[in-house]
Formats: sequence, structure tokens, C-alpha cells
Amino acid sequence: MFKAVLFDLDGVITDTAEYHFLAWQKLANEIGITIDRAFNEKLKGVSREDSLSRILAYGGKSDTFTADEFAALAKRKNDNYVEMIQAVSEKDVYPGILSLLQDLKAAGIKIALASASKNGPFLLAQMKLTSYFDAIADPAKVAASKPAPDIFIAAADGVGIDVADAIGIEDAEAGIAAIKAAHVLPVGVGSPDVLGHDIAIVPDTRDLTLDFLRNVWENK
Ligand code: G6P
Ligand code: MG
Repeated sequence: MFKAVLFDLDGVITDTAEYHFLAWQKLANEIGITIDRAFNEKLKGVSREDSLSRILAYGGKSDTFTADEFAALAKRKNDNYVEMIQAVSEKDVYPGILSLLQDLKAAGIKIALASASKNGPFLLAQMKLTSYFDAIADPAKVAASKPAPDIFIAAADGVGIDVADAIGIEDAEAGIAAIKAAHVLPVGVGSPDVLGHDIAIVPDTRDLTLDFLRNVWENK
């Protein structure tokens, strides 16, 4: 049996992936770059700085801004995003997530957060989920962000469980790549066309039950 579940946050625990998109879209518009939802799939799970670099490259503006201007743009996006998430509450936890956390706890399975977001601890507190988490990997302390495996390895380390005994749950292409690179068993939330046809995927968080995860583990 698996001994830990390593959760992504944005787009898995709650709908903040949408707020990230809206905040990036606003910033991109302000600097004359148009991004759509298809392009946004390439931003999901990607760190703040890497996301901005990808947007600038997409708009042909990679060399337009100084390092200070780049930092100011990243801050502007985050300030806007932080404003958007002030109203996040228990009501915003995706269906099925709270019962999964409760069932994992009751079964003695460790729970860790493996989010690239520096706003993760704030969001868990807003949703009153902090006490379910045995560890929160700090994205500021890992050398490389998703698709690199570092944050999932740090999350497994945080709960003292070998990566080979863990499941990772992700909604992003970069996140699934990170889980695979960490040698953790991936479970995707979303569409196989985005996340791949070679892993277990649920279309909706309602399907993320302990029984479902057990089944995925037994058939890996
Ligand atoms: C998550 C989200 C990304 C976001 C990243 C950094 O991985 O999926 O969209 O860019 O976290 O988040 P932050 O809140 O620190 O800017
Ligand atoms: Mg995500």
C-alpha cells in the first residue's frame, strides 16, 4: 500500500488555477501580449518567474525588460492574484477533497503539499485544511521547479516516506512530468489529451476516493 499522497494545490484542491490564468492574462494584456487558455496549459504548475519568462517568449518580448522590470512584472501579477484569493474559503475546496483528506488521515497515510505556489500555505489556511497536512514542501527552497522532480522529492522527504511509496496528484502537464521524474506514482485530474494516456486520470475530483487510489496502486 502507498504510505503518502503528495498533493498539488492549484487546480487539484481548489480552482485557483483559474485565478492564476486571469491574473497572468491581465498582466500580459498590459504589456501587449494576448494569451489564451490553450497557451495557459503550458503555464499550469510552472513557477511565477518561469511563467513570466514563457509569456514574454510567447509574445516575442524576451529581451524587452531589465531584471528589475521583470521582477516588478512578476510582483504585479502576484499582487493582483493575492487580491483575488482573499475571498477563498472552505466553500471553495473542490468536491471530494475534504473526504479524501479525512479518509487518508484515518488510514494513517501521510499527506503533503507539493505546490510550486508561495501562496500555498495561505490558501490552505483560508480553506481550513492546514491541519490535514503533515508537511508543506517550500517551493522557495527547491533548486528547480516543475517539471523538475524537486518539489515532489521534498514533499516525500517532509513526511519521511520513500518516493517509491507515494502517490502524487496533479492537474498540470509540468506537474505530471515532475511526479514521473521523482519516481512517484502519478494520478492526474483533467484530460488524458493534456496529461497523457499512460497514467491514471480522473475527470473530476469527486472521483478521487481512497478506494480509487488503492485500485490505482494495486494495478500499477
Ligand atoms: C502553481 C500554479 C502556477 C503558479 C505557481 C507559482 O504551480 O499552478 O500557475 O505560477 O504555482 O505560484 P505563486 O503563487 O507562487 O506565484
Ligand atoms: Mg496545479
